[in-house]
Amino acid sequence: MARHLITSAIPYINGIKHLGNLVGSQLPADLFARYQRGRGHEVLFLCATDEHGTPAELAATKAGQPVAEYCAEMWQVQKDLSDGFALSFDHFGRSSSAQNTRLTQHLATRLHAAGLIEEVTEKQVYSIADRRFLPDRYIEGTCPNCGYERARGDQCENCTKQLDPTDLIEARSAISGSTDLEVRETKHLYLRQSKMRDRLDAWIDSKTGWPILTTSIAKKWLHDEGGLRDRGITRDLDWGIPAQFEGAPWSGMEGKVFYVWFDAPIEYIACGAEWAEARGLDAAAWERWWREDKGAADITYTQFMGKDNVPFHTLSFPATLMGSGEPWKLVDYIKSFNYLNYDGGQFSTSQGRGVFMDDALQILPADYWRWWLLSHAPEGGDSEFTWENFQMNVNKDLADVLGNFVSRVTKFCRAKFGETVPEAGMQGPDEAALTEALENRIRAYEGHMEAMEIRKAAAALRAIWVEGNEYLQSAAPWASVKEDPATAAMQIRLALNLIRLYAVLSAPFIPDAAQRMLVALDCRDAGWPDDVASALRTLPPGHAFTVPDVLFAKINDTAREDWQARFSGIRD
Ligand code: 2FM
Ligand code: ZN
Repeated sequence: MARHLITSAIPYINGIKHLGNLVGSQLPADLFARYQRGRGHEVLFLCATDEHGTPAELAATKAGQPVAEYCAEMWQVQKDLSDGFALSFDHFGRSSSAQNTRLTQHLATRLHAAGLIEEVTEKQVYSIADRRFLPDRYIEGTCPNCGYERARGDQCENCTKQLDPTDLIEARSAISGSTDLEVRETKHLYLRQSKMRDRLDAWIDSKTGWPILTTSIAKKWLHDEGGLRDRGITRDLDWGIPAQFEGAPWSGMEGKVFYVWFDAPIEYIACGAEWAEARGLDAAAWERWWREDKGAADITYTQFMGKDNVPFHTLSFPATLMGSGEPWKLVDYIKSFNYLNYDGGQFSTSQGRGVFMDDALQILPADYWRWWLLSHAPEGGDSEFTWENFQMNVNKDLADVLGNFVSRVTKFCRAKFGETVPEAGMQGPDEAALTEALENRIRAYEGHMEAMEIRKAAAALRAIWVEGNEYLQSAAPWASVKEDPATAAMQIRLALNLIRLYAVLSAPFIPDAAQRMLVALDCRDAGWPDDVASALRTLPPGHAFTVPDVLFAKINDTAREDWQARFSGIRD
């Protein structure tokens, strides 16, 4: 039995995630976790909410709530939605946890001792009315280049020119609109990543099978424009992990917090500690997943994320862990994704464009979404959600191919042989051919799942479903039952066992439907089909089952047009 540590990028706390976010990390991570568990491996699958930073503070202000209260509420909202999508995290933690505070301060202390943190005094815009320093993107004004009046302090959205806040004409706070701004000096901690460049470079080079998307982004940051730059890891904010040493103040850092991107990935580890504590386990229970000196040396650690997250996971976070000089488990494989677009444009949280997780679950059960999203995962390039394509794939793959098979087989058996697996009949060459074809297809499916080639895995699974349909179509037990009931019984016994096989293989993609199939078959054996011939004998003659309700209903044109219209605009 192997051990798999799996993490999904942790979603920002402010607001409900859209389907593009979901397919970019949490959903494929869940697929992989479920698959590895299905193969009998030991899995620890962690995710959390990313609760710090200015966006969280501003969202709380907008909601008229204290930020801690806002985060607690939104954590519950996100937790309920992840349950709704059947995301099988072993723990859904919070980056604002006490465990993360401790670990973040601990790692900063170690980095400082290793000479990898520098204190830098810099100038920054301070808003007197807001009584705070403003990050560049919270300063607005007129672009000196094109005259656009809502240019941000880091860039003009209109002409794309990179800007400094001091370039803006009539600069104002994006928070309050106040123009009462001044430039003040402030001190910050910088992580000296540049000192670790060669080590990071060699580490990336040692990762031979990584997706090009992952390594090309890492290499660009390592080598472009003068190479890897040091990064500020503190901010002048109230909300966040206090910039302190472990158990002691950090002189000059009073009132400052660690930058959200410093503490967010550390939460992956802290989440392990939260998981153990929530179960009343001791520190050894999570350290065996995270500390190479405490049992984690033989673990395979896989991270899932969107491409915008790659620099932090290939460079800053490894620099933090390596730089600490402690034997933390580093990632073995980074699976990164492009973007999913929405109906001719982009999904956008800030603009409320697209289908969000709560909307989706109001319309249809999770499996419909899981199947479409995973079978269209933006792996090779960006991909696009359209309602027509969604309707077509759900109707074809889930309703016509899988759902119809389950329904035909169970109903036919009930009508002709009753609700038990029928007895008579010997298998012939057609069944042997089917078994062999399935053997090949299942091994291909496993190969794609191991390689995290998600679209290919979905196509392989669908081909396995089709194989059963074709067999049934040519065996045609409904035709042979009159003259040769023994053969029809054998065919239907095989087909009932195929339903169990499909449930086991499909569970990573469509866990609820898979469970319903097993319940209808009254079968608790979800063992992986390492040997197809014996897997197809799992349900013995005489075993009772029931006909399940329709597994997947078709989406009709009226519903599709209705949703299309409903989600064509911008939600509040
Ligand atoms: O892009 C995002 O949604 C970030 N909140 C991801 C953080 S992943 C990690 F660093 F924890
Ligand atoms: Zn401009």
